[in-house]
Amino acid sequence: MTRDEGTYRAQAERARGQEARTEGTYKAQAERAAGHTVQEATEPKRHRQQTKMVAPPNDYLVPERDALFTPVLECRHLGIDFGGLHAVEDFNLMVGKTEIAGLIGPNGAGKTTVFNLLTKVYQPTRGTILLDGQDTAGMDTARVSREGIARTFQNIRLFDSLTVEDNVKIGLHNQVDCGMWSGIFRAPRYWLSEKEFHDKALELLDVFHMADNAGDIAGSLPYGAQRRLEIVRALATNPKLLLLDEPAAGMNPVETEELMDTIVRIRDDFQIAVLLIEHDMDLVMGICEGIVVLNFGKVIAKGTPEEIQANPQVIEAYLGKQE
Ligand SMILES: Nc1ncnc2c1ncn2[C@@H]1O[C@H](COP(=O)(O)OP(=O)(O)OP(=O)(O)O)[C@@H](O)[C@H]1O
Ligand SMILES: [Mg+2]
Repeated sequence: MTRDEGTYRAQAERARGQEARTEGTYKAQAERAAGHTVQEATEPKRHRQQTKMVAPPNDYLVPERDALFTPVLECRHLGIDFGGLHAVEDFNLMVGKTEIAGLIGPNGAGKTTVFNLLTKVYQPTRGTILLDGQDTAGMDTARVSREGIARTFQNIRLFDSLTVEDNVKIGLHNQVDCGMWSGIFRAPRYWLSEKEFHDKALELLDVFHMADNAGDIAGSLPYGAQRRLEIVRALATNPKLLLLDEPAAGMNPVETEELMDTIVRIRDDFQIAVLLIEHDMDLVMGICEGIVVLNFGKVIAKGTPEEIQANPQVIEAYLGKQE
């Protein structure tokens, strides 16, 4: 992970209460990361416009390469109650524009609930979710999908009886405008769009070398291949942020290794961010740049893989208190 001394120094200064007044701005963060003053000319215009909209929270880290950009995701004091249970409480998180971030924690910690909040399966009881600087308050599931959040599910959700290609096309549907009337009358534009759909679906399947399986029935695929297809379908919605809920569950070690390579390649090729929930620590520590740890709905640690692995609270949450 490319988090340099400057960022850590700034963090330490914050901890000592020596935070400068400009500390909270993204530009200041970028300057710390770069170790020198960032010239206005090199700062993308889009970033300058959007930084005014986003007041950064107190503790966060993003990869150095993302420091000039509005974070793709920012959660502030996010919470949800189910009856008397605070399933998620005061959840703060920032994910950089091209970061691979990890969300880990013991069973029942609230990880999937965070994904359900981000995708508006549940509306938060408290707090704010900013997607690429935009407040998602009041949005529904379809809207956040269009705005750029895609997900896979802990329990695979594919259209089992449809082909692999059709599953991907469902993801593509909100991307290509073929128009209702041209669809009904099968006008030339419809056929053009069908070809576009087909080509794009195969191109996306190729990310996992699955183009040859395009005609297979999704439900007939081996388990690992179904998990990969779910990722392809999510990618088809053209997301800015890809949420993966236990993508390696049920995969063998060879498949998991390949999955790690592919997730990194997806990030590189599509220039998107990935936030993943995973119990396979080799995967988490192998590809995640920033990690947040939940326990009983609360964040108990945040940091780099090295920091997380050395954190006594994390070790205790996973292994129980050592007497
Ligand atoms: N719709 C709901 N109604 C009531 N309680 C819920 C609901 N959804 C989740 N919970 C509770 O919230 C807590 C967190 O569940 P969640 O599924 O988010 O955990 P998790 O971290 O994803 O666990 P796992 O690693 O087992 O998948 C659990 O106690 C769960 O029972
Ligand atoms: Mg879960």
